[in-house]
Amino acid sequence: MPMERPIIEVRHLRKEYPAADETVVALDGIDLAIPRGQICCVYGESGSGKSTLLNQLAGMEKPTRGGVRIGGTVISRLDERELAAFRQRHLGFVFQSYNLLPNLTAVENVAMPLMFRGVPKTQREKAARGMLRRVGLGKRLNHYPTQMSGGQQQRVGIARAFVARPQVVFADEPTGNLDSKTKIDVMEMIVSFARALDQTIVLVTHDDNMAAYADRVVTLLDGRIIDDRPVAAVPASTQGASR
Ligand SMILES: Nc1ncnc2c1ncn2[C@@H]1O[C@H](COP(=O)(O)OP(=O)(O)OP(=O)(O)O)[C@@H](O)[C@H]1O
Ligand SMILES: [Mg+2]
Repeated sequence: MPMERPIIEVRHLRKEYPAADETVVALDGIDLAIPRGQICCVYGESGSGKSTLLNQLAGMEKPTRGGVRIGGTVISRLDERELAAFRQRHLGFVFQSYNLLPNLTAVENVAMPLMFRGVPKTQREKAARGMLRRVGLGKRLNHYPTQMSGGQQQRVGIARAFVARPQVVFADEPTGNLDSKTKIDVMEMIVSFARALDQTIVLVTHDDNMAAYADRVVTLLDGRIIDDRPVAAVPASTQGASR
């Protein structure tokens, strides 16, 4: 089988944040290629540059130097308007703090990405209801975010991230605010959606138990990649013991 071009390619990526006294180098020469369908975990201690890397990959911020390509698009060359359109068309997001719109019901929140793609209301709400049933929220369709638990809100967040079948889903500490049982449910949902449609996931975490769900763990320290290995390299016995 011929090698497919990686869906995400990062070259010589550098991100500096100017500060009053000295410039912070948050990313210092990152090179990374992520194949289609991979669940890639970005791992590392607080301040190592995980969120900064995710923000550059997802086009939320401009790199100081270097480039990011997703599919056929060099996103580091797009302007703000083009980037917004690209994100709506090709990317999904799961956030640590859920980021649901408080004045919208679960169905309306999940339907949002389809609205941006011009799907008519009845069709997008039907798709949203289907997704909510798949994440076990068939009885919470018309609830507002404040009427749901953290775990339920994150399941709405997952339904929203996957409803439009994006090529890539970015998740920054998606289980960071959840208890250990709910963490597992949420990670298993993310993985099973991604596997079903061969979607690529970039998952940021500093939680070993969550990293074990990935295919690969890329470890950052001080804005550099210090380790990059397949998860299969972790003995199955320790993986099982941690669940
Ligand atoms: N907007 C900003 N302005 C200045 N410095 C920043 C900014 N964002 C991040 N940094 C700095 O860049 C470095 C990397 O931060 P980043 O948020 O990427 O870390 P992280 O690995 O996601 O940490 P955590 O696990 O705590 O979320 C840190 O030293 C941080 O202080
Ligand atoms: Mg972070």
